Amino acid sequence: MDPIKHPPTDLTAEANHRFANALSLLSGLVRMQAKAAGRTTRPFTNAEVRLMLDGIAARISTLGQLHRLLSQGPADGAVALKSHLRDIGGNLVAAFSSEQRPVSIDYAGGDYLVPAKYVQPITLILCEILTNAMKYSHPAGVAVRIALLCEAARDGTLQVTVSDDGIGLPEGFDTIKDGGLGFRIIRTLTSELNAGLDVFSDNLGTTFRLSVPQALVASVQTA
Ligand SMILES: Nc1ncnc2c1ncn2[C@@H]1O[C@H](COP(=O)(O)OP(=O)(O)OP(=O)(O)O)[C@@H](O)[C@H]1O
Ligand SMILES: [Mg+2]
Repeated sequence: MDPIKHPPTDLTAEANHRFANALSLLSGLVRMQAKAAGRTTRPFTNAEVRLMLDGIAARISTLGQLHRLLSQGPADGAVALKSHLRDIGGNLVAAFSSEQRPVSIDYAGGDYLVPAKYVQPITLILCEILTNAMKYSHPAGVAVRIALLCEAARDGTLQVTVSDDGIGLPEGFDTIKDGGLGFRIIRTLTSELNAGLDVFSDNLGTTFRLSVPQALVASVQTA
């Protein structure tokens, strides 16, 4: 494309700016992960290395999808969230599903329109939660079934709930301070969004409910 004939629109400039910020966040966090890996006293197994690299690849491709979406989106910058999450989820399923361990996601709730500025952090948080469910909910190799529900509260709060039917978080796991790169990304972006995150976990599964205040374009919600 000729950059002189097609100068970047405000939307493209905004998407590029967000993309650059998200890439810096990601590379900083991957560096922290590398440092933590360097301090580990035992060697990693092949399976652990594979999970780590698959996780980084999933984050990079989610960022690529986000950039495409946000740079080509509608002029008002609103995105139909459930449809977009179907694309993101489909990509993660393709990366983590196998014949031995099929992964599926059921999508429910409304396809609410959400301003683009909220879409990137919400997507990156959900990418971590979905990837974790795919990696850890059924370590024994049973099929992974995930439910993703989008709901709207009367006050304009968007709620996205992700549940799996797996073994639950490790005993004593504290979602406020424990975890690796994934939980760091979840906590950082949840706090940047002024959002709430409720986590319920037992040996029948794990549920994350993200509540984002004022994230709905009230007049143009779709059913
Ligand atoms: N849905 C889930 N079911 C069971 N355990 C989970 C689930 N989600 C997270 N966990 C546990 O929480 C831990 C921390 O997750 P976190 O995403 O922070 O790090 P990670 O996935 O191990 O590595 P990475 O830094 O690459 O994300 C996981 O190692 C796993 O034990
Ligand atoms: Mg993770």
